[in-house]
Amino acid sequence: MKRYVVTGGAGFIGSALVRRLLEEGDGQVTVIDNLLTGKRENLAEIWDRIAFHAVDIRDYDAIASLLRGADTVFHLAAIPSVPRSIEDPVPSHEVNIDGTFQVLRACVAGGVRRVVYAASSSAYGDTPVLPKVETMAPQPLSPYALQKLTGEYYARVFYSCYGLETVSLRYFNVYGPRQDPSSPYSGVISIFLRAILERRRPTIFGDGEQSRDFTYVEDVVSLTIKASRAPNVAGKLYNAGNGGQYTLNQIWRLLQQIEGVSLEPNYAPPRPGDVRHSRADITAAVRDLSHAPRFSLEEGLRRTLEWQRRTLAATAR
Ligand code: UD1
Repeated sequence: MKRYVVTGGAGFIGSALVRRLLEEGDGQVTVIDNLLTGKRENLAEIWDRIAFHAVDIRDYDAIASLLRGADTVFHLAAIPSVPRSIEDPVPSHEVNIDGTFQVLRACVAGGVRRVVYAASSSAYGDTPVLPKVETMAPQPLSPYALQKLTGEYYARVFYSCYGLETVSLRYFNVYGPRQDPSSPYSGVISIFLRAILERRRPTIFGDGEQSRDFTYVEDVVSLTIKASRAPNVAGKLYNAGNGGQYTLNQIWRLLQQIEGVSLEPNYAPPRPGDVRHSRADITAAVRDLSHAPRFSLEEGLRRTLEWQRRTLAATAR
């Protein structure tokens, strides 16, 4: 039987990927996660169906034995967040760059067939042209963006130098159930949803007219699995976005409509390293990987809102 390894599999996106791999049922699933930002509870009801290892990807010896002989390694382990990488750059540098290097090295040594690497839309920076196409020159604006870009370059070089099949997917602002709203470094949608459920005013950094291609987690998971199977994509890079573009002000308005409340946001100065506008050109992913995003922003928001409502109710009990 095939074996799949998901690094960062106890995280928000990783645990959704693990669930989908189990649903597809054609292989065993091993999860590697140091539980720094990941959580066991993200895997609660599937815990008995996976092999879980609380291991850090910087520990080559520990990961090498777990990656050996795997069919596909989905490398999602990372310390996310642009502001976190600015305020505390050492851990994110070590995990996102050194850790990625160790994963790739262990995959070569262990004869892994393919690695799918979770890259980031932040690599594009503030290049004025929209939508962002993979052929554009990257312009990282933060340590996080640079680290994720370095991972892509490493992935490509491991294909050209060592023949390891790698595919990089630039995830565009992924949101959905299990995204933790409780940290200041959390994704903005999870923070907004918690605020609206608690009837609090959110803080918007800048004028709120910055925009993002918010992508629902299940669409990203589908594409990630497609990237693990598609022919003739080794060494390549694809945008993993929805193709849409919404400002923060639009999102907050939409949430107020959905919940039937009126709450004026607090506006604060823009965050350093922040990108102004982001939208993916998904032509290449549609062509080569049969990418087909299914979730509109409104549908994704409703689903995520319901998940947060249930989680809040459960913790209040
Ligand atoms: C960036 C990347 C994304 C990556 C993520 C990892 C870009 C375009 N996207 O997301 O691909 O997955 O890092 O963490 O670079 N904001 C508020 N109020 C809040 C929180 C955030 O106004 O309480 C604003 C931010 O200033 C920013 C926007 O919301 O303008 C989105 O922020 P966030 O969700 O943290 O993601 P990015 O930094 O865009």
